[in-house]
Amino acid sequence: MLGALVALASCIGVGTNTPEKHPDLKWTNGGSSVSGSIVVDSNWRWTHIKGETKNCYDGNLWSDKYCPDAATCGKNCVLEGADYSGTYGVTTSGDAATLKFVTHGQYSTNVGSRLYLLKDEKTYQMFNLVGKEFTFTVDVSNLPCGLNGALYFVQMDSDGGMAKYPDNQAGAKYGTGYCDAQCPTDLKFINGIPNSDGWKPQKNDKNSGNGKYGSCCSEMDIWEANSMATAYTPHVCDKLEQTRCSGSACGQNGGGDRFSSSCDPDGCDFNSWRMGNKTFWGPGLIVDTKKPVQVVTQFVGSGGSVTEIKRKYVQGGKVIDNSMTNIAAMSKQYNSVSDEFCQAQKKAFGDNDSFTKHGGFRQLGATLSKGHVLVLSLWDDHDVNMLWLDSVYPTNSNKPGADRGPCKTSSGVPSDVESQNADSTVKYSDIRFGAIDSTYSK
Ligand SMILES: *[C@@H]1O[C@H](CO)[C@@H](O)[C@H](O)[C@H]1NC(C)=O
Ligand SMILES: *[C@@H]1O[C@H](CO)[C@@H](O)[C@H](O)[C@H]1NC(C)=O
Repeated sequence: MLGALVALASCIGVGTNTPEKHPDLKWTNGGSSVSGSIVVDSNWRWTHIKGETKNCYDGNLWSDKYCPDAATCGKNCVLEGADYSGTYGVTTSGDAATLKFVTHGQYSTNVGSRLYLLKDEKTYQMFNLVGKEFTFTVDVSNLPCGLNGALYFVQMDSDGGMAKYPDNQAGAKYGTGYCDAQCPTDLKFINGIPNSDGWKPQKNDKNSGNGKYGSCCSEMDIWEANSMATAYTPHVCDKLEQTRCSGSACGQNGGGDRFSSSCDPDGCDFNSWRMGNKTFWGPGLIVDTKKPVQVVTQFVGSGGSVTEIKRKYVQGGKVIDNSMTNIAAMSKQYNSVSDEFCQAQKKAFGDNDSFTKHGGFRQLGATLSKGHVLVLSLWDDHDVNMLWLDSVYPTNSNKPGADRGPCKTSSGVPSDVESQNADSTVKYSDIRFGAIDSTYSK
C-alpha cells in the first residue's frame, strides 16, 4: 500500500515544447515490408519543470530544488519530445537509420544515442529470435577505435514499463524502460520513474551520473563493432523480465563486485580477432569495413530452446562464413556460439564463466522466447575506453584472450574521440527478420 502511494506521487509526465515525432524506419518481416519507427531513450531527453523551461536535470546533476526526492521530482518534471536530427544527430530514410556521434545543437552538445524500434506510437516491436534469423546491413567505415556502433536486443517491456509502473506516463513513446545485463545505474529514469535519489555525478563524464537503482535484464548483443573490431555476445540473467536492483545486486555499478548481480556481465563473446583471426574483420580485410556489409545471425532452435548462434557476412554478393577459432589452448575449433564454445573459451582464457553460471543457452532460449526489443546505438566508453572490444585488455596482459583488436591501448579516450572523431557515424539499414536462410541471397 505504501509502495502504491509513493508511486502515485512520482508520476513523470511529458512536455509540450516539442511534439514527439518518431522517425520512420522500414524493415522486412518474413518477406513483407513493415512501416516502423524509432524512438530515442528517455535518458537523452530534456527534463524540465512542467510548463516552464527550467531544467530538472542539467549536465550530470538533478536539480536540488525540483528533485529533492524521486517522488517530488516526478511530480514537478516532464520528459520532452525530441528533435531527432537537430539535437541527437539521428536521421532516417526509407530502411536506413544514421546515428551521428557528436551533435552540436542549439542548446546542448549531444554525444551518441540509443534508440528502440517501435511497432506503433506507444509500443515497442517485440522479436522472438528463437529458430529465426536476424539480418541487417551496417556501414562502419566511419567508426574509428573507441566507438561502438551497437545493434542488440534486450528484454524490455513492450510498453516501456507503463503497466508495471502505473506512474510512468511517458512509456515507450518517450523511450522508457531500458535494462541490460550490466544492470546500469546511470539511468535517469527506471521505467519512467526518476532515479534521482542518491544520484552521484560521474567524475569523468559531464553528462552522466549514477542513481541508487539499476535496471537488469537479459541482453543479446547481435553486434558491437567499429571498423577495427567486432563481437557478438549473449548475456543472460536469472530473472526472465526487467528487474530493478539496488546496491550490490546491481553488480559493479551498484558498488558490488563484477559478478554480484543476477545477470552475467561478461557474456559469451565471439570476436574474430580475439578468437585468433587477425585478418578477418577490418579495412581491406576479408570482411572489408571500408564498405557496407550485410550481417546475418541465426538462432538455431525451436520453442523455448536455442542451441547455437551462427554468423555469416555477405559482401560484394559473396557469403562469408564466420571465421574459425584459432586458439592453441582450445582443443576444438568453432565458428559459432554455443554452450560448448562458451565453456571452452572461458577455460582457455581463464575468464570467470558467469554465462554458464547464470544458465547459459538454457536461459538464453527462455529469455529470447519471451520477446526482446531491438536497440540501435552509438556510444563511447567512459569506463575503459572500449579497449575490451578493440585493443589489449587488461592493457598490461599478455594472457590468451587479452588481445581483442588492433587499436592502441591509449585509444578510445572519450575526450579524444569526442573532439577528434566528432563527425563519426554508423548507418544501419535493411533490417530483415524471418526463417533461417530466408533473409539474404546465397
Ligand atoms: C567469479 O564469479 C564469482 C561469482 O559468480 C565470484 O564469487 C568470484 O569472485 C569471481 N572470480 C573472479 C576471479 O573474478
Ligand atoms: C582467417 O579467416 C579466413 C577466412 O575464414 C581464413 O582463410 C584464414 O585462414 C583465417 N586465418 C587464421 C589465422 O585462422
